[in-house]
Amino acid sequence: MSFKNFLPLLSLLLAACNSQTKIEPAIFNADMQTFSNYESVHTKHLQWDAEIDFTNKKVKGIATWSFENTKQVKQICFDSYALQIKKITVQGKEVKYHETELKTNFGSGLSIPIELTDTIVSIEYETGENAIALQWLSPEQTAGKKMPYLFTQCESIHARSLMPCQDIPANRITYNAKVKVPSGMMAVMSARNPTEKNAEGRYSFEMEIPVPTYLIALAAGDILYKAIDERCGVYTEPSMLEKAATELSDIPNMMKAAEELGGPYRWGKYDVLIAPPSFPIGGMENPRLTFATPTIIAGDKSLVSLIAHEMAHSWSGNLVTNATWNDLWLNEGFTTYFERRIMEKISGVEYNDMLWELGYQDMQSDFDALGITHEDTRLRIELKGRHPEEGFSNIPYEKGAVFIRMLEEGVGRKKFDAYLSKYFQTNAFKPMTTEKCLAFMDEHLFDGDKTLNEKLKVHQWVFEPGLPDNCIHKLPVRFTQVDITRKQFEKDGLTQKMVVSNWTTHEWLQFLRKIQHPLSTEKMKSLDDAFHLTGIGNSEIADEWYKLAISSNYEAAFPEMEKFLASVGRKKFLEPLYAEMMKTPSGKKMAAKIFEQSKQNYHPQTAKKIGKMLQG
Ligand code: BES
Ligand code: ZN
Repeated sequence: MSFKNFLPLLSLLLAACNSQTKIEPAIFNADMQTFSNYESVHTKHLQWDAEIDFTNKKVKGIATWSFENTKQVKQICFDSYALQIKKITVQGKEVKYHETELKTNFGSGLSIPIELTDTIVSIEYETGENAIALQWLSPEQTAGKKMPYLFTQCESIHARSLMPCQDIPANRITYNAKVKVPSGMMAVMSARNPTEKNAEGRYSFEMEIPVPTYLIALAAGDILYKAIDERCGVYTEPSMLEKAATELSDIPNMMKAAEELGGPYRWGKYDVLIAPPSFPIGGMENPRLTFATPTIIAGDKSLVSLIAHEMAHSWSGNLVTNATWNDLWLNEGFTTYFERRIMEKISGVEYNDMLWELGYQDMQSDFDALGITHEDTRLRIELKGRHPEEGFSNIPYEKGAVFIRMLEEGVGRKKFDAYLSKYFQTNAFKPMTTEKCLAFMDEHLFDGDKTLNEKLKVHQWVFEPGLPDNCIHKLPVRFTQVDITRKQFEKDGLTQKMVVSNWTTHEWLQFLRKIQHPLSTEKMKSLDDAFHLTGIGNSEIADEWYKLAISSNYEAAFPEMEKFLASVGRKKFLEPLYAEMMKTPSGKKMAAKIFEQSKQNYHPQTAKKIGKMLQG
């Protein structure tokens, strides 16, 4: 080939290389924990076609995103976590793309070239082996032991391991989905859901109300539905269905109480999925379908405040959404306050005061653990490139809730309630920053009265570490008696006088949390013999009891505790028990052994967290 003939070929080759190198790598935005360029071009609607492959533990999907290129940029960037990308088309035409290397915790950035007039990108992919949003359960790990099970947990930034998406809470999308599961299974999502199984295992979903990606959720398995009323019901495995529906029969009353405070419920149905025991958290406010741990099914409705919490997120969180994870207190603090208001209506002030107190204790233990000058004890935190869950504690929940409670007392309930419902209505479907929230408060709660704002120490509450001195802390009357009983027990051991027949879960928690420990084996045994605490079905009491058993080296409880640690996957229960074991050399050995036996039952997020604890 002569040089002259070679020239056109060379320029063609160069052009090809150019078009490849033209794709700029997605840039990681450390403040927002995202690779997406949603501020320039943002996704609006998702059509998701997915097949759930239980044999290979993979979701095989096509995510078709409609987007709006507001800043007229040349590429759209997505978050993706360990996804295998098969093929990408823009307006139906296959395109090349660029994927950055996996960045620990945050995944990779996927950049796709677009033309100014483009509006649709379609990404064919499979989920990776370590998809952090997914837990695949074998039939043995379910209640029915017949079919496998899959569920997702996308908050905070795990949705990117389920599908390529712009994984930031400030952007909202609507979605439609078609999901194929093995026949005999039901699939449910955070969307309009089926109530019956269909023979082919093909399900269609619609979420026509815009939601952030952390609220996308899916579960599939041997799931059935039972209605509680026209609007509310329960999804769970067949053997749990009756029990769960009975335990949750107060949901319609809770809804009534919630609507009185927050204004009309905007999402259509409100159902609850009672997940298998390995569900890693207590509950998740997936719109239209809260996912919850089965450990709240205590048999006496004593743990249903968790449902009030997730329901309350239908306003604080799902309607008015934290713009960034630094503002998590706007979701969780408002919701914890809202939860207590629902519970006050359902169970009365005396009962509710116990919930406030136990929450206060949780907050105090985090102040103790972190130190009251720790930056993460501010309400508005600064994550600066950390994973959102690294700054996670009881502070946004309980300090957030007592802050709002203080505001309520400061201005009076009537005025406060009018402000709260206005806050939800005015800011519905919008991202909320701490600054915007405080501006709204100044205008609608304080009516511009700066001295009131200062008197209530708003700035200190939100932007400074520790707890301001105008925090409300009332001791519940029902705990006064518990404390007397406890002191008597500490002094004299178990006497005839210890009357506990009227105690609820919360009184037991107060007793077990406050008791001076280690206790002698004799005292532990006397409690155990009288109240059968080892092996108790109430998970909250069991957790406190086993913590006491570890610190008191009460070996008789260990076999049942091991069973508890092997079957329950809720981080809130596991972490304190492992932490307690890690305090002594023999406990460390026990922790390592139990973790080795149990870790295959834990959700990847839980296994990761506990694994780290045991190393450090
Ligand atoms: N939205 C949270 C769960 C969450 C928060 C997941 C942040 C990931 C990151 C949910 O509403 C929640 O707070 N659940 C609590 C129960 C509640 C009663 C305090 C839980 O799971 O323990
Ligand atoms: Zn919450």
